Amino acid sequence: MTSLFARKPIAELVAEGDHPNALKRELGAGDLIMLAIGAVIGAGIFGAIGTAAAGQTDAAGHVIRSGAGPALVFSFLLLGGACALAALCYAELASMIPQAGSAYAYAYATLGEIVAWIIGWDLILEYAVGNVAVAISWGDYFKTLTGGLLHLPVWLTTGYRTALLSSDANVHGLLTTAPHVAGIPILVNLPAFAIVAFITWLLLRGVRESARANNIMVVVKLLALALFIAAGLTKINPVNYTPFAPNGFAGIHHGAAIVFFAYIGFDAISTAAEETKNPQRNLPIGILGGLAICTVIYVIVGAVLTGMVNYKELDPSLHADPLAYALQRTGMQSASWLVALGAVFSMTAVLLVFQYGQPRIFYAMGRDGLLPRWASRLHRRTRVPYTTTLLTGVFVALWSLIGDAGETYDLTNIGTLFAFAIVCVGVLVLRYTQPERPRPFRVPFVWPVCVGGAAACVFVMRGLPQQAWERFAIWLAIGLVLYFAYGYRNSTLRGGPSREGPSV
Ligand code: ALA
Repeated sequence: MTSLFARKPIAELVAEGDHPNALKRELGAGDLIMLAIGAVIGAGIFGAIGTAAAGQTDAAGHVIRSGAGPALVFSFLLLGGACALAALCYAELASMIPQAGSAYAYAYATLGEIVAWIIGWDLILEYAVGNVAVAISWGDYFKTLTGGLLHLPVWLTTGYRTALLSSDANVHGLLTTAPHVAGIPILVNLPAFAIVAFITWLLLRGVRESARANNIMVVVKLLALALFIAAGLTKINPVNYTPFAPNGFAGIHHGAAIVFFAYIGFDAISTAAEETKNPQRNLPIGILGGLAICTVIYVIVGAVLTGMVNYKELDPSLHADPLAYALQRTGMQSASWLVALGAVFSMTAVLLVFQYGQPRIFYAMGRDGLLPRWASRLHRRTRVPYTTTLLTGVFVALWSLIGDAGETYDLTNIGTLFAFAIVCVGVLVLRYTQPERPRPFRVPFVWPVCVGGAAACVFVMRGLPQQAWERFAIWLAIGLVLYFAYGYRNSTLRGGPSREGPSV
Protein backbone atom coordinates (compact mmCIF):
# COMPACT_ATOMS: atom_id res chain seq x y z
CA MET A 1 0.00 0.00 0.00
CA THR A 2 2.72 2.46 0.93
CA SER A 3 4.42 1.86 -2.44
CA LEU A 4 1.39 3.48 -4.07
CA PHE A 5 2.52 6.63 -2.32
CA ALA A 6 6.23 6.22 -3.18
CA ARG A 7 7.73 9.68 -3.72
CA LYS A 8 10.29 10.55 -6.32
CA PRO A 9 13.40 12.12 -4.77
CA ILE A 10 13.70 15.76 -5.88
CA ALA A 11 17.43 15.40 -6.56
CA GLU A 12 16.54 12.73 -9.12
CA LEU A 13 13.93 14.97 -10.74
CA VAL A 14 16.37 17.85 -11.06
CA ALA A 15 19.13 15.56 -12.40
CA GLU A 16 16.81 14.28 -15.12
CA GLY A 17 16.82 17.77 -16.56
CA ASP A 18 20.53 17.43 -17.29
CA HIS A 19 20.35 13.98 -18.86
CA PRO A 20 21.48 13.70 -22.52
CA ASN A 21 17.95 12.54 -23.41
CA ALA A 22 16.58 15.70 -21.79
CA LEU A 23 14.93 18.63 -23.54
CA LYS A 24 17.12 21.61 -24.62
CA ARG A 25 17.34 24.63 -22.24
CA GLU A 26 16.74 27.68 -24.36
CA LEU A 27 13.87 29.77 -22.90
CA GLY A 28 14.47 32.98 -20.87
CA ALA A 29 12.22 35.05 -18.49
CA GLY A 30 10.85 37.16 -21.35
CA ASP A 31 9.96 34.04 -23.33
CA LEU A 32 8.13 32.68 -20.28
CA ILE A 33 6.02 35.82 -19.76
CA MET A 34 5.19 35.68 -23.45
CA LEU A 35 4.33 31.97 -23.13
CA ALA A 36 2.14 32.75 -20.09
CA ILE A 37 0.21 35.50 -21.88
CA GLY A 38 0.13 33.27 -24.93
CA ALA A 39 -1.58 30.58 -22.86
CA VAL A 40 -3.84 32.76 -20.74
CA ILE A 41 -5.59 35.27 -23.02
CA GLY A 42 -7.77 33.28 -25.37
CA ALA A 43 -11.14 31.55 -25.54
CA GLY A 44 -11.94 32.45 -21.93
CA ILE A 45 -12.00 36.20 -22.52
CA PHE A 46 -13.12 36.04 -26.16
CA GLY A 47 -15.77 33.29 -25.77
CA ALA A 48 -16.60 32.01 -22.25
CA ILE A 49 -17.06 35.59 -20.99
CA GLY A 50 -20.43 35.69 -22.80
CA THR A 51 -21.69 32.56 -21.03
CA ALA A 52 -20.43 33.89 -17.69
CA ALA A 53 -22.34 37.16 -18.14
CA ALA A 54 -25.58 35.76 -19.62
CA GLY A 55 -25.81 32.29 -18.07
CA GLN A 56 -26.94 29.24 -20.03
CA THR A 57 -30.04 27.12 -20.62
CA ASP A 58 -30.22 23.73 -22.30
CA ALA A 59 -32.28 22.72 -25.35
CA ALA A 60 -35.25 21.91 -23.09
CA GLY A 61 -35.09 25.36 -21.44
CA HIS A 62 -33.62 24.21 -18.09
CA VAL A 63 -31.15 26.61 -16.49
CA ILE A 64 -27.65 25.11 -16.56
CA ARG A 65 -26.07 28.11 -14.84
CA SER A 66 -27.17 31.61 -13.92
CA GLY A 67 -25.36 34.61 -15.36
CA ALA A 68 -23.31 37.18 -13.46
CA GLY A 69 -24.50 40.15 -15.54
CA PRO A 70 -22.28 43.25 -15.20
CA ALA A 71 -21.17 41.90 -11.79
CA LEU A 72 -18.92 39.70 -13.89
CA VAL A 73 -16.08 42.02 -12.88
CA PHE A 74 -16.42 40.54 -9.38
CA SER A 75 -16.12 37.04 -10.85
CA PHE A 76 -12.81 38.14 -12.38
CA LEU A 77 -11.60 39.68 -9.13
CA LEU A 78 -12.54 36.54 -7.19
CA LEU A 79 -10.64 34.42 -9.69
CA GLY A 80 -7.65 36.78 -9.73
CA GLY A 81 -7.35 36.31 -5.96
CA ALA A 82 -7.77 32.53 -6.09
CA CYS A 83 -5.31 32.15 -8.96
CA ALA A 84 -2.72 34.41 -7.31
CA LEU A 85 -2.67 32.04 -4.31
CA ALA A 86 -2.32 29.01 -6.57
CA ALA A 87 0.27 30.86 -8.70
CA LEU A 88 2.46 31.45 -5.67
CA CYS A 89 2.35 27.74 -4.92
CA TYR A 90 3.15 26.85 -8.54
CA ALA A 91 6.09 29.26 -8.46
CA GLU A 92 7.59 27.63 -5.35
CA LEU A 93 7.31 24.12 -6.74
CA ALA A 94 8.32 25.07 -10.29
CA SER A 95 11.47 26.82 -9.11
CA MET A 96 12.34 23.93 -6.77
CA ILE A 97 11.60 21.20 -9.27
CA PRO A 98 12.41 22.75 -12.66
CA GLN A 99 11.32 19.74 -14.65
CA ALA A 100 8.91 19.02 -17.50
CA GLY A 101 5.60 17.71 -16.24
CA SER A 102 4.22 20.59 -14.15
CA ALA A 103 1.83 19.58 -11.34
CA TYR A 104 2.43 15.95 -12.26
CA ALA A 105 6.13 16.19 -11.39
CA TYR A 106 5.42 18.18 -8.23
CA ALA A 107 2.87 15.65 -7.01
CA TYR A 108 5.35 12.83 -7.65
CA ALA A 109 7.86 14.52 -5.35
CA THR A 110 5.41 15.47 -2.63
CA LEU A 111 2.33 13.30 -2.43
CA GLY A 112 3.46 10.07 -4.07
CA GLU A 113 3.00 8.07 -7.22
CA ILE A 114 -0.71 7.41 -7.24
CA VAL A 115 -1.52 11.07 -6.64
CA ALA A 116 0.98 11.98 -9.38
CA TRP A 117 -0.77 9.62 -11.78
CA ILE A 118 -4.17 11.05 -10.90
CA ILE A 119 -2.85 14.57 -11.53
CA GLY A 120 -1.13 13.57 -14.79
CA TRP A 121 -4.38 12.00 -15.97
CA ASP A 122 -6.35 15.01 -14.73
CA LEU A 123 -4.07 17.41 -16.62
CA ILE A 124 -5.30 15.89 -19.89
CA LEU A 125 -8.54 17.72 -19.06
CA GLU A 126 -6.68 20.99 -18.70
CA TYR A 127 -4.44 20.74 -21.73
CA ALA A 128 -5.97 18.50 -24.38
CA VAL A 129 -9.68 18.89 -23.54
CA GLY A 130 -9.11 22.62 -22.87
CA ASN A 131 -7.73 22.95 -26.36
CA VAL A 132 -10.88 21.40 -27.77
CA ALA A 133 -12.84 24.35 -26.31
CA VAL A 134 -10.27 26.83 -27.63
CA ALA A 135 -10.32 25.32 -31.11
CA ILE A 136 -14.14 25.51 -31.21
CA SER A 137 -14.12 29.15 -30.07
CA TRP A 138 -11.39 29.81 -32.66
CA GLY A 139 -13.80 28.44 -35.26
CA ASP A 140 -16.57 30.82 -34.05
CA TYR A 141 -14.36 33.89 -34.52
CA PHE A 142 -12.98 32.52 -37.77
CA LYS A 143 -16.57 32.42 -39.07
CA THR A 144 -17.09 36.07 -38.06
CA LEU A 145 -13.83 37.02 -39.72
CA THR A 146 -14.36 35.23 -43.00
CA GLY A 147 -18.16 35.49 -43.14
CA GLY A 148 -18.11 37.81 -46.15
CA LEU A 149 -15.57 35.76 -48.11
CA LEU A 150 -15.91 32.08 -47.32
CA HIS A 151 -19.38 30.62 -47.50
CA LEU A 152 -19.00 27.30 -45.76
CA PRO A 153 -22.34 25.56 -45.11
CA VAL A 154 -23.30 25.76 -41.45
CA TRP A 155 -23.15 21.96 -41.07
CA LEU A 156 -19.40 22.18 -41.82
CA THR A 157 -18.78 24.77 -39.08
CA THR A 158 -21.00 23.43 -36.27
CA GLY A 159 -20.09 20.37 -34.20
CA TYR A 160 -22.71 17.72 -33.47
CA ARG A 161 -22.65 18.35 -29.70
CA THR A 162 -23.15 22.09 -30.18
CA ALA A 163 -26.31 21.48 -32.20
CA LEU A 164 -27.54 18.87 -29.75
CA LEU A 165 -27.13 21.11 -26.69
CA SER A 166 -28.11 24.49 -28.16
CA SER A 167 -31.15 26.31 -26.79
CA ASP A 168 -31.43 28.20 -30.10
CA ALA A 169 -34.08 26.55 -32.29
CA ASN A 170 -32.16 27.14 -35.53
CA VAL A 171 -28.92 25.62 -34.28
CA HIS A 172 -30.73 22.71 -32.60
CA GLY A 173 -32.74 22.22 -35.78
CA LEU A 174 -29.54 21.36 -37.65
CA LEU A 175 -29.96 17.87 -36.21
CA THR A 176 -32.75 17.40 -38.74
CA THR A 177 -31.77 19.82 -41.52
CA ALA A 178 -28.08 18.82 -41.91
CA PRO A 179 -27.21 16.17 -44.52
CA HIS A 180 -27.51 12.64 -43.12
CA VAL A 181 -25.41 9.56 -43.83
CA ALA A 182 -26.88 6.25 -42.63
CA GLY A 183 -29.32 8.21 -40.46
CA ILE A 184 -26.55 10.21 -38.73
CA PRO A 185 -26.54 14.01 -39.17
CA ILE A 186 -23.23 15.28 -40.56
CA LEU A 187 -22.34 18.15 -38.25
CA VAL A 188 -18.63 18.87 -38.12
CA ASN A 189 -16.50 21.86 -37.24
CA LEU A 190 -13.95 21.89 -40.05
CA PRO A 191 -12.20 25.18 -39.10
CA ALA A 192 -11.56 23.89 -35.54
CA PHE A 193 -10.16 20.65 -36.91
CA ALA A 194 -7.92 22.44 -39.42
CA ILE A 195 -6.34 24.82 -36.90
CA VAL A 196 -5.40 21.95 -34.58
CA ALA A 197 -3.80 20.09 -37.48
CA PHE A 198 -1.79 23.21 -38.38
CA ILE A 199 -0.57 23.78 -34.81
CA THR A 200 0.50 20.16 -34.50
CA TRP A 201 2.57 20.51 -37.65
CA LEU A 202 4.19 23.69 -36.27
CA LEU A 203 5.14 22.01 -33.00
CA LEU A 204 6.67 19.04 -34.71
CA ARG A 205 9.15 21.49 -36.27
CA GLY A 206 10.67 22.30 -32.85
CA VAL A 207 10.40 24.63 -29.85
CA ARG A 208 12.51 27.51 -31.19
CA GLU A 209 10.24 28.26 -34.13
CA SER A 210 7.15 27.83 -31.95
CA ALA A 211 8.32 30.29 -29.26
CA ARG A 212 9.02 32.91 -31.91
CA ALA A 213 5.61 32.45 -33.49
CA ASN A 214 4.05 32.74 -30.03
CA ASN A 215 5.77 36.08 -29.36
CA ILE A 216 4.31 37.62 -32.50
CA MET A 217 0.83 36.35 -31.65
CA VAL A 218 0.99 37.76 -28.11
CA VAL A 219 1.66 41.27 -29.42
CA VAL A 220 -1.28 40.98 -31.80
CA LYS A 221 -3.66 39.79 -29.05
CA LEU A 222 -2.74 42.66 -26.74
CA LEU A 223 -3.38 45.11 -29.56
CA ALA A 224 -6.78 43.50 -30.25
CA LEU A 225 -7.91 43.81 -26.64
CA ALA A 226 -6.61 47.38 -26.45
CA LEU A 227 -8.69 48.17 -29.54
CA PHE A 228 -11.77 46.54 -28.01
CA ILE A 229 -11.39 48.59 -24.83
CA ALA A 230 -10.70 51.87 -26.65
CA ALA A 231 -13.60 51.43 -29.10
CA GLY A 232 -15.98 49.99 -26.49
CA LEU A 233 -15.42 52.81 -24.01
CA THR A 234 -17.01 55.22 -26.48
CA LYS A 235 -20.20 53.11 -26.62
CA ILE A 236 -20.94 52.51 -22.96
CA ASN A 237 -24.58 52.94 -22.05
CA PRO A 238 -24.99 53.19 -18.24
CA VAL A 239 -28.48 51.63 -18.54
CA ASN A 240 -26.77 48.30 -19.22
CA TYR A 241 -25.28 48.31 -15.72
CA THR A 242 -28.76 47.94 -14.20
CA PRO A 243 -29.44 45.45 -12.75
CA PHE A 244 -25.80 45.11 -11.83
CA ALA A 245 -25.99 41.62 -10.33
CA PRO A 246 -29.20 40.08 -11.74
CA ASN A 247 -28.64 36.72 -10.05
CA GLY A 248 -26.88 37.93 -6.93
CA PHE A 249 -23.90 36.08 -5.59
CA ALA A 250 -24.98 32.81 -7.25
CA GLY A 251 -24.55 34.48 -10.65
CA ILE A 252 -21.10 35.80 -9.73
CA HIS A 253 -20.14 32.34 -8.47
CA HIS A 254 -21.45 30.45 -11.53
CA GLY A 255 -19.89 33.06 -13.80
CA ALA A 256 -16.54 32.63 -12.08
CA ALA A 257 -16.74 28.85 -12.44
CA ILE A 258 -16.95 29.06 -16.25
CA VAL A 259 -14.79 32.12 -16.91
CA PHE A 260 -12.06 30.52 -14.81
CA PHE A 261 -11.12 29.12 -18.19
CA ALA A 262 -9.68 32.56 -18.99
CA TYR A 263 -7.10 32.11 -16.22
CA ILE A 264 -5.90 28.68 -17.17
CA GLY A 265 -2.43 28.79 -18.60
CA PHE A 266 -0.13 30.64 -16.24
CA ASP A 267 0.65 27.25 -14.78
CA ALA A 268 1.28 25.82 -18.25
CA ILE A 269 4.62 27.56 -18.46
CA SER A 270 5.87 25.35 -15.67
CA THR A 271 5.70 22.51 -18.19
CA ALA A 272 8.54 24.34 -19.94
CA ALA A 273 10.68 24.26 -16.78
CA GLU A 274 13.05 21.72 -18.26
CA GLU A 275 13.64 23.96 -21.26
CA THR A 276 14.18 27.14 -19.21
CA LYS A 277 17.51 28.87 -18.59
CA ASN A 278 18.05 29.72 -14.90
CA PRO A 279 14.62 28.35 -13.94
CA GLN A 280 15.02 29.33 -10.28
CA ARG A 281 14.78 32.99 -11.21
CA ASN A 282 12.79 32.93 -14.41
CA LEU A 283 9.84 30.70 -13.50
CA PRO A 284 8.38 32.79 -10.63
CA ILE A 285 8.80 35.98 -12.72
CA GLY A 286 7.04 34.40 -15.69
CA ILE A 287 4.14 32.87 -13.76
CA LEU A 288 3.28 35.78 -11.42
CA GLY A 289 4.00 38.52 -13.96
CA GLY A 290 1.80 36.92 -16.59
CA LEU A 291 -1.09 36.43 -14.13
CA ALA A 292 -1.02 40.04 -12.90
CA ILE A 293 -1.09 41.49 -16.42
CA CYS A 294 -4.00 39.28 -17.47
CA THR A 295 -6.15 40.00 -14.40
CA VAL A 296 -6.03 43.75 -14.99
CA ILE A 297 -6.95 43.30 -18.66
CA TYR A 298 -9.91 40.99 -17.86
CA VAL A 299 -11.51 43.30 -15.33
CA ILE A 300 -11.40 46.17 -17.82
CA VAL A 301 -12.72 44.06 -20.72
CA GLY A 302 -15.55 42.69 -18.51
CA ALA A 303 -16.61 46.18 -17.43
CA VAL A 304 -16.54 47.53 -20.99
CA LEU A 305 -18.40 44.58 -22.55
CA THR A 306 -21.30 44.59 -20.09
CA GLY A 307 -21.56 48.38 -20.46
CA MET A 308 -21.86 48.15 -24.25
CA VAL A 309 -24.75 45.67 -24.56
CA ASN A 310 -27.36 44.13 -22.28
CA TYR A 311 -25.81 41.05 -20.68
CA LYS A 312 -28.68 38.82 -21.91
CA GLU A 313 -27.58 39.37 -25.51
CA LEU A 314 -24.30 37.63 -24.72
CA ASP A 315 -25.98 34.20 -24.48
CA PRO A 316 -23.63 31.74 -26.30
CA SER A 317 -26.53 30.16 -28.18
CA LEU A 318 -27.24 33.55 -29.75
CA HIS A 319 -23.70 34.88 -30.22
CA ALA A 320 -20.65 32.71 -29.69
CA ASP A 321 -18.28 35.63 -30.46
CA PRO A 322 -19.31 38.13 -27.72
CA LEU A 323 -16.58 40.79 -28.16
CA ALA A 324 -16.97 41.00 -31.94
CA TYR A 325 -20.77 40.94 -31.51
CA ALA A 326 -20.79 43.84 -29.00
CA LEU A 327 -18.78 45.99 -31.41
CA GLN A 328 -21.03 45.10 -34.36
CA ARG A 329 -24.15 45.73 -32.33
CA THR A 330 -22.94 49.22 -31.44
CA GLY A 331 -22.15 50.01 -35.05
CA MET A 332 -18.40 49.49 -35.17
CA GLN A 333 -17.98 47.01 -38.01
CA SER A 334 -14.30 47.61 -38.72
CA ALA A 335 -13.31 47.39 -35.06
CA SER A 336 -15.38 44.19 -34.80
CA TRP A 337 -13.54 42.68 -37.73
CA LEU A 338 -10.14 43.66 -36.32
CA VAL A 339 -10.98 42.25 -32.89
CA ALA A 340 -12.15 39.01 -34.52
CA LEU A 341 -8.79 38.90 -36.30
CA GLY A 342 -7.01 39.44 -32.98
CA ALA A 343 -9.15 36.73 -31.35
CA VAL A 344 -8.15 34.25 -34.01
CA PHE A 345 -4.48 35.08 -33.40
CA SER A 346 -4.93 34.94 -29.61
CA MET A 347 -6.50 31.56 -29.66
CA THR A 348 -3.90 30.25 -32.05
CA ALA A 349 -1.29 31.22 -29.45
CA VAL A 350 -3.24 29.40 -26.70
CA LEU A 351 -3.53 26.31 -28.84
CA LEU A 352 0.20 26.43 -29.40
CA VAL A 353 1.08 26.56 -25.70
CA PHE A 354 -1.29 23.77 -24.69
CA GLN A 355 -0.43 21.53 -27.60
CA TYR A 356 3.17 22.16 -26.51
CA GLY A 357 2.52 21.39 -22.82
CA GLN A 358 0.47 18.21 -23.11
CA PRO A 359 3.10 16.10 -24.92
CA ARG A 360 5.70 17.13 -22.33
CA ILE A 361 3.50 15.86 -19.50
CA PHE A 362 3.07 12.58 -21.37
CA TYR A 363 6.84 12.59 -21.93
CA ALA A 364 7.52 12.93 -18.20
CA MET A 365 5.01 10.17 -17.43
CA GLY A 366 6.52 7.90 -20.07
CA ARG A 367 9.99 8.49 -18.67
CA ASP A 368 8.73 7.42 -15.24
CA GLY A 369 7.24 4.23 -16.65
CA LEU A 370 3.64 5.26 -15.99
CA LEU A 371 2.98 5.38 -19.73
CA PRO A 372 4.48 3.10 -22.40
CA ARG A 373 8.06 3.71 -23.55
CA TRP A 374 7.07 5.36 -26.83
CA ALA A 375 5.69 8.32 -24.86
CA SER A 376 9.22 9.33 -23.80
CA ARG A 377 10.80 9.29 -27.27
CA LEU A 378 12.44 12.49 -28.49
CA HIS A 379 13.21 13.33 -32.08
CA ARG A 380 16.98 13.12 -32.59
CA ARG A 381 17.36 16.51 -34.27
CA THR A 382 14.55 18.69 -32.90
CA ARG A 383 14.42 17.07 -29.39
CA VAL A 384 10.64 17.26 -29.65
CA PRO A 385 8.60 14.46 -27.98
CA TYR A 386 7.11 13.72 -31.35
CA THR A 387 4.98 10.64 -30.64
CA THR A 388 3.03 12.39 -27.89
CA THR A 389 2.83 15.61 -29.94
CA LEU A 390 1.14 13.66 -32.72
CA LEU A 391 -1.12 11.74 -30.35
CA THR A 392 -2.28 14.98 -28.71
CA GLY A 393 -2.91 16.52 -32.13
CA VAL A 394 -5.11 13.63 -33.29
CA PHE A 395 -7.08 13.52 -30.01
CA VAL A 396 -7.78 17.26 -29.92
CA ALA A 397 -8.52 17.58 -33.64
CA LEU A 398 -11.07 14.74 -33.66
CA TRP A 399 -12.89 15.94 -30.53
CA SER A 400 -12.98 19.53 -31.89
CA LEU A 401 -14.66 18.23 -35.01
CA ILE A 402 -17.84 17.23 -33.16
CA GLY A 403 -17.56 18.79 -29.66
CA ASP A 404 -19.26 21.70 -27.88
CA ALA A 405 -17.33 24.57 -26.28
CA GLY A 406 -19.53 24.95 -23.17
CA GLU A 407 -19.32 21.39 -21.98
CA THR A 408 -15.60 21.22 -22.61
CA TYR A 409 -15.05 24.46 -20.63
CA ASP A 410 -16.72 22.81 -17.64
CA LEU A 411 -14.69 19.63 -17.87
CA THR A 412 -11.45 21.55 -18.27
CA ASN A 413 -12.20 23.88 -15.39
CA ILE A 414 -13.06 21.17 -12.90
CA GLY A 415 -9.92 19.21 -13.78
CA THR A 416 -7.65 22.24 -13.62
CA LEU A 417 -9.06 23.52 -10.33
CA PHE A 418 -8.51 20.08 -8.85
CA ALA A 419 -4.85 20.14 -9.98
CA PHE A 420 -4.41 23.65 -8.53
CA ALA A 421 -5.79 22.50 -5.18
CA ILE A 422 -3.38 19.55 -5.10
CA VAL A 423 -0.44 21.85 -5.89
CA CYS A 424 -1.39 24.12 -2.95
CA VAL A 425 -1.48 21.12 -0.63
CA GLY A 426 1.80 19.82 -2.09
CA VAL A 427 3.68 22.98 -1.10
CA LEU A 428 2.64 22.56 2.53
CA VAL A 429 3.53 18.86 2.57
CA LEU A 430 6.98 19.54 1.17
CA ARG A 431 7.66 22.30 3.70
CA TYR A 432 7.28 19.65 6.42
CA THR A 433 8.74 16.58 4.75
CA GLN A 434 11.78 18.36 3.22
CA PRO A 435 12.30 21.61 5.11
CA GLU A 436 16.02 21.76 4.29
CA ARG A 437 15.62 21.61 0.50
CA PRO A 438 16.69 24.93 -1.15
CA ARG A 439 13.71 27.02 -2.25
CA PRO A 440 14.75 29.74 -4.70
CA PHE A 441 11.21 31.12 -4.39
CA ARG A 442 9.28 30.73 -1.11
CA VAL A 443 5.53 31.26 -0.70
CA PRO A 444 5.07 33.99 1.94
CA PHE A 445 2.61 33.20 4.81
CA VAL A 446 2.63 29.61 3.71
CA TRP A 447 -0.31 28.31 5.78
CA PRO A 448 -2.89 30.97 4.88
CA VAL A 449 -1.75 31.01 1.23
CA CYS A 450 -1.81 27.24 0.72
CA VAL A 451 -4.97 26.51 2.69
CA GLY A 452 -6.69 29.59 1.25
CA GLY A 453 -5.59 28.64 -2.29
CA ALA A 454 -6.89 25.06 -2.02
CA ALA A 455 -10.17 26.22 -0.41
CA ALA A 456 -10.68 28.90 -3.08
CA CYS A 457 -10.21 26.32 -5.86
CA VAL A 458 -12.75 23.96 -4.29
CA PHE A 459 -15.16 26.86 -3.85
CA VAL A 460 -14.92 27.82 -7.54
CA MET A 461 -15.38 24.14 -8.52
CA ARG A 462 -18.65 24.12 -6.58
CA GLY A 463 -20.02 26.71 -8.99
CA LEU A 464 -19.90 24.20 -11.88
CA PRO A 465 -22.97 22.21 -13.00
CA GLN A 466 -23.64 18.77 -11.48
CA GLN A 467 -22.94 17.11 -14.83
CA ALA A 468 -19.33 18.36 -14.76
CA TRP A 469 -18.81 16.62 -11.40
CA GLU A 470 -20.24 13.36 -12.69
CA ARG A 471 -18.07 13.40 -15.78
CA PHE A 472 -15.02 14.28 -13.71
CA ALA A 473 -15.65 11.30 -11.41
CA ILE A 474 -15.93 8.98 -14.42
CA TRP A 475 -12.72 10.38 -15.89
CA LEU A 476 -10.81 9.78 -12.64
CA ALA A 477 -12.21 6.25 -12.35
CA ILE A 478 -10.98 5.41 -15.87
CA GLY A 479 -7.57 6.81 -14.93
CA LEU A 480 -7.33 4.59 -11.85
CA VAL A 481 -8.18 1.49 -13.87
CA LEU A 482 -5.39 2.36 -16.34
CA TYR A 483 -2.92 2.97 -13.53
CA PHE A 484 -3.46 -0.45 -12.00
CA ALA A 485 -3.44 -2.11 -15.42
CA TYR A 486 -0.15 -0.51 -16.56
CA GLY A 487 1.67 2.15 -14.51
CA TYR A 488 1.56 0.23 -11.24
CA ARG A 489 3.56 -2.60 -12.81
CA ASN A 490 5.92 -0.56 -14.96
CA SER A 491 6.81 2.41 -12.77
CA THR A 492 10.61 2.87 -12.83
CA LEU A 493 10.48 4.23 -9.27
CA ARG A 494 9.09 0.96 -8.00
CA GLY A 495 11.49 -1.28 -9.94
CA GLY A 496 10.09 -1.26 -13.50
CA PRO A 497 12.51 -1.24 -16.46
CA SER A 498 14.64 1.93 -16.84
CA ARG A 499 13.40 4.43 -19.46
CA GLU A 500 16.51 6.23 -20.57
CA GLY A 501 15.36 5.34 -24.04
CA PRO A 502 16.94 6.31 -27.34
CA SER A 503 16.09 9.35 -29.39
CA VAL A 504 14.63 8.59 -32.74
N1 ALA B 1 -6.87 30.67 -20.69
C1 ALA B 1 -6.94 30.06 -21.97
C2 ALA B 1 -8.03 30.63 -22.79
O1 ALA B 1 -8.78 31.42 -22.31
C3 ALA B 1 -7.04 28.58 -21.85
O2 ALA B 1 -8.16 30.29 -23.93
